[in-house]
Amino acid sequence: MSPATTKCSGCLNFTDSPPSPSTQALTAMPTAAPATTTVAIGNHSFVLNREKAEHAYASKRVINGNETMFFNILPLKYQWAYDLYKTMKNNHWEPEDIAMQKDVEQWRSDEISDVERWIIKMGIGYFSAAEGVVGDNILHVVRELVTAPELKLVLGRHAHEENIHADSLVYMISSLGINPHECEAMFEDIPSILAKSNYVVSNSRALRRDVDLTLTANKQALAKNIFLFGQCMEGTQFYGLFAMILSLYRQNKFPGIGTMFRYTLRDESNHIELLRNLLMDLIDENPDIWTEEFREDLRATMAEGISLEKAFIRDCLPVAGLGLNSVDFETYIDYIADRRLTSCGLDPLNEFVSNPFPWLSEMIDIKKETNFFEGRVTEYQKASALSSVDDDEL
Ligand SMILES: [Fe+2]
Ligand SMILES: [Fe+2]
Repeated sequence: MSPATTKCSGCLNFTDSPPSPSTQALTAMPTAAPATTTVAIGNHSFVLNREKAEHAYASKRVINGNETMFFNILPLKYQWAYDLYKTMKNNHWEPEDIAMQKDVEQWRSDEISDVERWIIKMGIGYFSAAEGVVGDNILHVVRELVTAPELKLVLGRHAHEENIHADSLVYMISSLGINPHECEAMFEDIPSILAKSNYVVSNSRALRRDVDLTLTANKQALAKNIFLFGQCMEGTQFYGLFAMILSLYRQNKFPGIGTMFRYTLRDESNHIELLRNLLMDLIDENPDIWTEEFREDLRATMAEGISLEKAFIRDCLPVAGLGLNSVDFETYIDYIADRRLTSCGLDPLNEFVSNPFPWLSEMIDIKKETNFFEGRVTEYQKASALSSVDDDEL
């Protein structure tokens, strides 16, 4: 299947469709313009070479593009990246703005079961390290290897959001009074967490060197990294715990933690879209990547990620909790993984799996609630960013 035929609308770049009038000045130059433009300021005049500017634009590429010290975002070639950067920036939030009093009361009371407490600990323990793993890969692998400045811009924001997520977990740990060594130990000692970590970290390490990205095998390694982190880890393996913690939140348990996870999940939706668009554009520009064998490799990578996630879910829910059982969460992972695969033009792994948690889309759709966020958090929301979560992501 050609990626071009399955590309999402967000992936369309400058060459695919004309920009809207409002963005035209940022993306396109008039074709009949003279070769140079002279700007006079007082007694000085400056001659600007349009051909050089057009050449700089034409040499923008996802990889192997113009290597320059100058961060020339304009003219934009990857409009979607700049638009997404704006959306992400407008969704900015800070953990300390979310009240944790109710969570602390519940944590110390006996109205919370041991299973529910365990889910929260697994969530905090896993994400405390996983957020850093993602941020590190974005900064030191993906952002290092892509060459177009607007792509580096949005990837920088992505990494910053992982910092915010990591910080939110520090805030949860300190609010609840959990021993931080206990969280560290979970990441080191629980085999299903360790296996999930090794699954992504081994791939990330392999790309930490000067890679010759003119070779198809190396291009495929980068494409696989982008798929692994965006669609398998952030897009699938994060969703088991997201669903569990939001199931508790739905039962009015841990409202502060639930709120932070809702914000985090909204950010993750943007990260998944970012890395999917990046992958699709990389393939468009480098069709040698997209072989039948490579597509099957990506599907097998997702299948491995699903298997690891299901083992992890069984560790999170060793016994059925109130209204929670591991089978539903495992089905949810099958469902969400197939959505990720098809969004990248890959065949699903299952014939048909329906979503066992239709309420989850509603819960994550933050824009529908006007009074949900109390305090200063609402002030971070700019009017232009109220539609940040696309139900299609869920
Ligand atoms: Fe994150
Ligand atoms: Fe993320």
